Amino acid sequence: MNSVPLILGIESTCDETGVALVRNRTLLTDVTATSMDQHVRFGGIIPEIASRAHLESFLPALDSALEQAGVKLSDVDAIACAAGPGLVGSLTVGITSAKGLAAALGVPLYGVNHVIGHLAIDMFEHGPLPDRFIGLVASGGHSNLLLIEDLPCSVVELGGTLDDAAGEAFDKVGRLMGLPYPAGPHMDRLAASAQDPDAIRFPRGLAAGKDKERYKYDFSFSGLKTAVSRYLIEHPEADHAEVAAAFSESINDSLTAKAVRAAVDSGCKVIVVGGGFAANSRLRSLLAERAGKQGIEVRIPPMRYCTDNGAQIAALGALLVEAGLPPSPADFGPDSGMELEQIYMS
Ligand code: KG4
Ligand code: ZN
Repeated sequence: MNSVPLILGIESTCDETGVALVRNRTLLTDVTATSMDQHVRFGGIIPEIASRAHLESFLPALDSALEQAGVKLSDVDAIACAAGPGLVGSLTVGITSAKGLAAALGVPLYGVNHVIGHLAIDMFEHGPLPDRFIGLVASGGHSNLLLIEDLPCSVVELGGTLDDAAGEAFDKVGRLMGLPYPAGPHMDRLAASAQDPDAIRFPRGLAAGKDKERYKYDFSFSGLKTAVSRYLIEHPEADHAEVAAAFSESINDSLTAKAVRAAVDSGCKVIVVGGGFAANSRLRSLLAERAGKQGIEVRIPPMRYCTDNGAQIAALGALLVEAGLPPSPADFGPDSGMELEQIYMS
């Protein structure tokens, strides 16, 4: 392997096919193709369509990544691919492609946890990650709080959602209001347009009584979803912007209060946010405000790095190679429910 190895990252957990190249902790190129437009009319991701789209997009994405970076496939020193969590069929396309390339090139292959990649990618934007930090990963599939120590060596899962993920709840409630899929961004704009954002108050999940301590870093959004649904039935004339604002406030109050509490409790001075829900405007403002009061820095990568992409996989791959960790065993496969404390397949 070169002293400054060239790492190829491959992401295929859901609807995005991502290919990226990293050298010396610098992102050379990051190519993403998405099959989202093929899922929109179904109101959700259709796994079979996503898998086929990965098959069609992978080689063109690889070719353009190599061309943009001005390197040859034979220059690649190590490969990282997403091993989970995600859709089995989609993961299988990325993993088998990565295995074929690794065998042909004779280079090591790392099957990595794409959720940890959502945090690792911030090193391209804001420099090296601190030794200890809290990770808040919020997307259509995840809402988790992680304590990261000495990445890529230790990840402790502090908590997560007991039911819906934050983005998923936004998509479902947006659908109730007749908004197109994915409804998260539409709901965000609608909430921000409310004349009186405090006109309605919805409950916060796991925030009172025994639940508050027992589930101190966990989230629950399904009761909120039911409360909004009931409110819309009982108040057919309700101002949808005010309903969206109250709904958004409930979710973001929980996410930000628990993220800051986790940081304070564990003595971390930094919170890194990742996942598509990081686009949410209220999450950003409320987290900045609450973390700021505690002297905690919030790092959020630019939006193109928050949604699934190859660079997050290459970032984690680069850290694993740099740490001298052994590659994944040859027989690893996709793990749709990969535990968040498992940084890569070892
Ligand atoms: O990470 P991502 O691109 O895909 C995965 O789920 O893995 O996240 C997409 C999710 C969707 O649920 C989408 O509605 C939500 O993030 N989302 C938002 C916003 N932008 C995207 N939710 C609320 N506010 C937003 N601005
Ligand atoms: Zn993701």
